[in-house]
Amino acid sequence: MVRPKPSMDEVVALAKRRGFIFPSSEIYGGVNGAWDYGPVGVELKRNVRAAWWRHMVELRDDVVGVDTSILMSPDVWRASGHLEHFHDLMVDCRTCKKRFRADELSGERCPSCGNATLTQPRAFHMMFKTYIGAMEDASSVAYLRPETAQGIFVDFKSIYQTGRKKPPFGVAQIGKAFRNEITPGNFIFRSREFEQMELEFFVPVQPESEGMRWFDYWVEQRHNWFLGLGIQPSRLRRHVYSGADLAHYSRATTDLEYDFPFGWGELEGIAHRASFDLQRHVDASGKDLSFFDEESKEKFLPAVIEPSLGVDRACLVFLLDAYEKEADRTVLHLHPRLAPYKTAVFPLVRNKPDIVEMAVRIERSLRPSLRTVFDDSGNVGKRYYRQDEIGTPLCVTVDYESLDRQDVTVRERDSKEQKRISVDRLASYLKHAIEPDDTAVLDSVAR
Ligand code: GAP
Repeated sequence: MVRPKPSMDEVVALAKRRGFIFPSSEIYGGVNGAWDYGPVGVELKRNVRAAWWRHMVELRDDVVGVDTSILMSPDVWRASGHLEHFHDLMVDCRTCKKRFRADELSGERCPSCGNATLTQPRAFHMMFKTYIGAMEDASSVAYLRPETAQGIFVDFKSIYQTGRKKPPFGVAQIGKAFRNEITPGNFIFRSREFEQMELEFFVPVQPESEGMRWFDYWVEQRHNWFLGLGIQPSRLRRHVYSGADLAHYSRATTDLEYDFPFGWGELEGIAHRASFDLQRHVDASGKDLSFFDEESKEKFLPAVIEPSLGVDRACLVFLLDAYEKEADRTVLHLHPRLAPYKTAVFPLVRNKPDIVEMAVRIERSLRPSLRTVFDDSGNVGKRYYRQDEIGTPLCVTVDYESLDRQDVTVRERDSKEQKRISVDRLASYLKHAIEPDDTAVLDSVAR
């Protein structure tokens, strides 16, 4: 059964109330398009990154990782085409002074005040400009990267030489990206500072069918990654680009789209970019970035398949998809791998030192192997409610009987079912219930 779609406001309110995500610089009125992750939000975000890295790097033998810098030579952006082309068309309303992206307008009238006083579209460059060093002049201009991909392309040669890989192989990177979006919004869907998880998967250019085979493989892999982390299948679909919608260099592009509260929107893009990016850097830098195959003695510039996903956009989708308002509680059905805490430990009462001491001991013993939290505030019902709202899959309660019987109650988030588990079996029981077996994933990434 598909869960009813929550409104964005409900999820924003929960995110704020429970410490997932707050507006940046809120005490000074906030800054548009920037967000802070709170105590549980940072755990969710780390888990999303870790799940991606595990699937895309750790469980594979044909992908290596890198962490390249945010500040790069402006020549990179000249070569990549960002300096020339990375802009959106914007339109201003002369009456209410609001600003819109031209592609978001459907008529001649301002969607905000209704007047027919819109300006002609003007290009608005989206890269953030800064200066490197003490001098603020044209020679010191630099840009905050608008995507992580270019760091991989410009380092391509050093990476394949030191990573000891040959095509087909991939390079993965997770890191911040910055875009001066005209209309940031829909919570963390479109921000000005965000994070990307990108894979550049390099494949031989010949035969051409190999490129398309890898493209199809990655669309499938990425779709399944979301399903494996619990996204409801009917909320995810593919948008296949064709004709004029396809970038001129791209052989194929497919977006994974999610059914957001505001409608279907891009979640992740998977693009077959041919040799476009490497060729641009070869032309602009004069450096030979082609791959030399020692065995066949062949030299070639590989084509690239690029799955590119926003960390924040993925966090938003996992929150929206997991949200459910039941009659007596709100629950986040987060996949255990993504849940901020895997288990919460409670003493039934606070005024019984034996019970509290036993709960403290159990939580400490679990801590090295599981992300746990201790909670003794309010009554047990309230604590369950709080953990349900942040998606904790299992709660452990130490009660009066625990002292004699050396067992505890384990309560499951989704079913609310409770079981007695002996203390000496607890750690293995929890780990087994929470940690997915990656053997199946290992099989599914095989080519
Ligand atoms: N290197 C290819 C590239 O950057 P993109 O479609 O511009 O492609 C890829 O971005 C992904 O990054 C998007 O599918 C989305 O998940 C995320 N993304 C892009 N702009 C974003 C923004 N302003 N805020 C949050 N996420 C964004």
